[in-house]
Amino acid sequence: MRYILGIETSCDETSVAVLEGRVVRSSVVASQAQLHAQWGGVVPEAAARQHVERLNPVLQQALDAAGVTLTHIDGIAVTNRPGLVGALVVGLAAAKAIAFALQKPFVGVNHLEGHLYSAFLTEPDAEIPFPHLSLIVSGGHTELVFARGHGDYALLGHTLDDAAGEAFDKTARLLGLGYPGGPEIDRRAKLGNPHAFSFPRARVEGWNFSFSGLKTAVRREVERLQQQNALDEATLNDLCASFQQAVLDALIEKTVDAAQAHGVDTLTVVGGVAANSALQAQMRAACNQAGLHLKIPPPKYCTDNAAMIALAGYYRLLTGERADYDLDAYASAPLGS
Ligand code: KG4
Ligand code: ZN
Repeated sequence: MRYILGIETSCDETSVAVLEGRVVRSSVVASQAQLHAQWGGVVPEAAARQHVERLNPVLQQALDAAGVTLTHIDGIAVTNRPGLVGALVVGLAAAKAIAFALQKPFVGVNHLEGHLYSAFLTEPDAEIPFPHLSLIVSGGHTELVFARGHGDYALLGHTLDDAAGEAFDKTARLLGLGYPGGPEIDRRAKLGNPHAFSFPRARVEGWNFSFSGLKTAVRREVERLQQQNALDEATLNDLCASFQQAVLDALIEKTVDAAQAHGVDTLTVVGGVAANSALQAQMRAACNQAGLHLKIPPPKYCTDNAAMIALAGYYRLLTGERADYDLDAYASAPLGS
């Protein structure tokens, strides 16, 4: 199993990657974020059409950048769950066609398992430390996962309502900022005061999270400020900083507590929101204090990419796992399924 081809089309990034063993030889991502920005969020039908248009050129680019042709590929890993079904089937059909043409094995990968492996893409020579704890924070997910070994995961907690990235995106929208909202809130938060507004930190049972109350509190504050004609740039930055700090407080405290309660010494933070600069800095400080090793992938591997899918698939292919040509796509699927 020398060269693995990874294909990811679960949401609004069309991505193909080539791994040589565990080493990333290429990872090409064509983001549709600009297209969906006009609608303020991902439109599933438009996403699927874009994948159809972009997948072949992205595949060719990934092969060229890795200096290989399809004939070099030994196995294929494709995201088949969870995600937008119309988007997933585009990548899945491509994976099956390539597998059939080359007569090579392919496997379906759970998108969340891909995110788990993203933390280890930059250290191909290091053993993956098991057990470890992972906080997956993206546009669609906020999950705390106890990873015992390859393919062996326990979901400790999840969001009861909005995902962390969804909270960033929805809050950005009500502040009149663009989509996706995370990067813009991150940027503005650096210019604002995180203590300017005191937004609620939801107290949720167990290892779960909740962000919808926070979003409502921001909306009320925005309405009040608008009535007073007081929503200027500086106030907007303060709102961003205060909202972001409320999300971070909830994420960091619970995640570090969970890591300690489960006796792990390594924590990973993955998914689009892991690119947040304040989350990285504050999580690092909290982990230093708690004596935890923290791994956060570089931004290009935080957001959706096929390299992480290829790495997850690599371990599955190594164990002899093989998918059949009737493999389906699923909108929702628990990790480990
Ligand atoms: O992992 P991802 O690319 O897609 C999903 O699987 O959902 O994550 C996208 C999410 C979006 O909600 C986006 O606003 C958020 O990640 N995001 C950020 C930052 N960069 C991206 N959130 C906070 N701060 C950032 N710097
Ligand atoms: Zn994702």
